[in-house]
Amino acid sequence: MQRYDIGVIGLGYVGLTLATVLAEVGNRVMGVERRQDVVDLTNGGVPHFSETGLTEALSRVIRTGGLTARQSLVEDTTCDVYVITVGTPLDPNGVARLDMIEAATREVADNMRDGALVILRSTVKVGTTRNVVAPILDATGKKYSIAMCPERTLEGRALQELRELPQIVGADDQETADRASAVFRRITSSIVQVSSPEAAEILKLVDNTYRDVRFAFANEVARVCDSFGVNAFEVIASGKLGYERTNVPLPGLVGGPCLEKDPHILFQSAYSQGIELEITRAARAVNERQPYETVDFIVSEAGRRDVPQDGRIALLGLAFKGVPATDDLRGSMSLKVLEALEGVWPNAQIVLYDPVIDTDVLRERFPNHEVAESLEDATRGAHIAILANNHPTLATRTPAALAEAMAPSGFVFDYWNHFSSLAERELADVYFAVGNRRVAA
Ligand SMILES: NC(=O)c1ccc[n+]([C@@H]2O[C@H](COP(=O)([O-])OP(=O)(O)OC[C@H]3O[C@@H](n4cnc5c(N)ncnc54)[C@H](O)[C@@H]3O)[C@@H](O)[C@H]2O)c1
Repeated sequence: MQRYDIGVIGLGYVGLTLATVLAEVGNRVMGVERRQDVVDLTNGGVPHFSETGLTEALSRVIRTGGLTARQSLVEDTTCDVYVITVGTPLDPNGVARLDMIEAATREVADNMRDGALVILRSTVKVGTTRNVVAPILDATGKKYSIAMCPERTLEGRALQELRELPQIVGADDQETADRASAVFRRITSSIVQVSSPEAAEILKLVDNTYRDVRFAFANEVARVCDSFGVNAFEVIASGKLGYERTNVPLPGLVGGPCLEKDPHILFQSAYSQGIELEITRAARAVNERQPYETVDFIVSEAGRRDVPQDGRIALLGLAFKGVPATDDLRGSMSLKVLEALEGVWPNAQIVLYDPVIDTDVLRERFPNHEVAESLEDATRGAHIAILANNHPTLATRTPAALAEAMAPSGFVFDYWNHFSSLAERELADVYFAVGNRRVAA
């Protein structure tokens, strides 16, 4: 019987980074992943997504034998601790999927021996640890302990944050909390124990919903500023000067694999208790509507400038964020912007550019659009250049410099206010941003 210290079930963004860091500190880790291509890449020491420092760290732990990947847990193998890190995306009805959690738990249930510790790390509806995972494990009659320890790292900074962020541990009893804490204490000095799995589940959902609500408020500030022809960037930046009580973020596209779903999971959890979370729901609606609302403005400005129906539109920055850099397209609002553009301009030539995502990946994913190798190639001759994420590469050419190579009537629309701090004369008549439409009052 092969014994592993830890089995990590699901080698996605969360599982692969966690398994790597756990192996780095001396654990023998078994990574279990359904996708054979991911198993093969992992065993070859190659990450299947882009993450700072992961290529080096993964190849090290594979070389030393600290981490091994397999497609399933097998009979001749067992683990002392299991960490479930499978995905919980929303289904077509907008409800967080449970099927992958259930399947992973069944696999753990079959494989575990008496005394195992099972840790749920995926982001889930409140009550999932107790009402979904535990009953599957109970049915085996084996003795086990269970804790909920949510993942809170930022993509692009995951390895660093796994070592630096406080790790949340939620369990019903102190012995289990201490055992789960011991797993994480090997990678970080900061552990925060909460008194139940539900507290840990809600804490995770609250963290991301709070961010979603703040960003939605910033987008509302942008809407009111736009309606009065006032620059939201100026309002927000000036309001913070020497005045700490207000700390509004900048407006922009709000998406990504977590923010697109976690607030939904929080309000569905509350709804199951008969509670309506009005602010959470409204914030999500504001953020989900924003790409369409802003494209309406882009269309009206294009009309003012006689941009032809088959004009060239450069959509720049496809990943859901640019800082920290990632190649993750899941939940990216740039895709909603693309969808809205395709809807209003079916004959436009839309050219895509992303500073991080492999151009072959983009070509395969978007076969109907041209994919550019550089910012310059994408914007040359364009009627509209849309800055859709905050990667610093997209801010390397000022709007005036971009416009010189664009079509004569061309303009720039910036979702991230890369250039709103520039003086008006430097923006010429070519720059617009969320909350900075620069129309006459
Ligand atoms: N991506 C993030 O930065 C992040 C941050 C915090 C929390 N989370 C949460 O963590 C969870 C995982 O997120 P992710 O981004 O890593 O998802 P992901 O989809 O990238 O990875 C999940 C992996 O699990 C695999 N899988 C599914 N069922 C399996 C099974 N039964 N056995 C083995 N493998 C299986 C899938 O093939 C996939 O590779 C989600 O609940 C997410 O909300 C993600």
